[in-house]
Amino acid sequence: MLPQTSPRPVRVAGPRRYLMCRPEHFDVTYSINPWMRPDKPTDTAIALVQWERLRGLFLGLGHRVDLVDPVPGLPDMVFAANGATVVDGRVLSARFRHAERAPEAPAYLEWFRANGFRTREAEFVNEGEGDYLVVGDRILAGTGFRTDPRSHAEAAAFLGREVVALTLVDPRFYHLDTALSVLDDDEVMYYPPAFSTQSQAVLLDLYPEAVLATDADAEVFGLNTVSDGRHVLLAQEAAHLHDVLADRGFVPIGVDLSELLKSGGSAKCCTLEIREEKQK
Ligand code: ARG
Repeated sequence: MLPQTSPRPVRVAGPRRYLMCRPEHFDVTYSINPWMRPDKPTDTAIALVQWERLRGLFLGLGHRVDLVDPVPGLPDMVFAANGATVVDGRVLSARFRHAERAPEAPAYLEWFRANGFRTREAEFVNEGEGDYLVVGDRILAGTGFRTDPRSHAEAAAFLGREVVALTLVDPRFYHLDTALSVLDDDEVMYYPPAFSTQSQAVLLDLYPEAVLATDADAEVFGLNTVSDGRHVLLAQEAAHLHDVLADRGFVPIGVDLSELLKSGGSAKCCTLEIREEKQK
């Protein structure tokens, strides 16, 4: 008899559509999270090279990447994940917490309007997919630093999905997508200490098999990932997560976004997923 081993799941990549924004005006000129140090130099040319590599990886994997025009004077506009939340072709606009980023919301909304999407201008502060992560039929919704909890009901009503609130407590992990990563329709990985005790219990209940990230994983932004269900793009420094993901049958792909990390962002922050209306 052959020994019994649990079969490794076969991971299938679905074609995705992403929206990105070239970091032509990237800089750190203000500080709205603990990573941002305006006194430290940034190099826009390096940011552009690192970002182009990320875009090239998506294209090489067969995904579609649309681009929104960067606006001068909006150095954080490269973080497209914050631009909106898109589910079934419906677009809930962002509404930023800080004045420095406020003009990004209409710039992204305009792109979606011009491209024929059904849009809603948000009533409450929310920072798009920074705090709204779609996991199958459910939306995990961060709050604590940026997104107003009143926005959660607005998102549930407009996007037509169950919304589960999660409270972030560590200022280094100010957006949900810096502390939790969606791997598949029912799989996530996360960094427990970034969440309130109550939210840790919610996550344990919903995802008992989840990958738990270490301090070292979280500190290099290893949870700020983009997964197509098979390939997981994440910080190359997150060695432990690369091993765990490979063990679970995913294909981890390391990216170097060190320049963008100076503003507190990595792969996921640069990537907004456009989930189109399902054809009936
Ligand atoms: N400097 C930006 C901010 O603090 C970084 C945003 C990162 N985006 C994200 N989806 N986590 O708002």
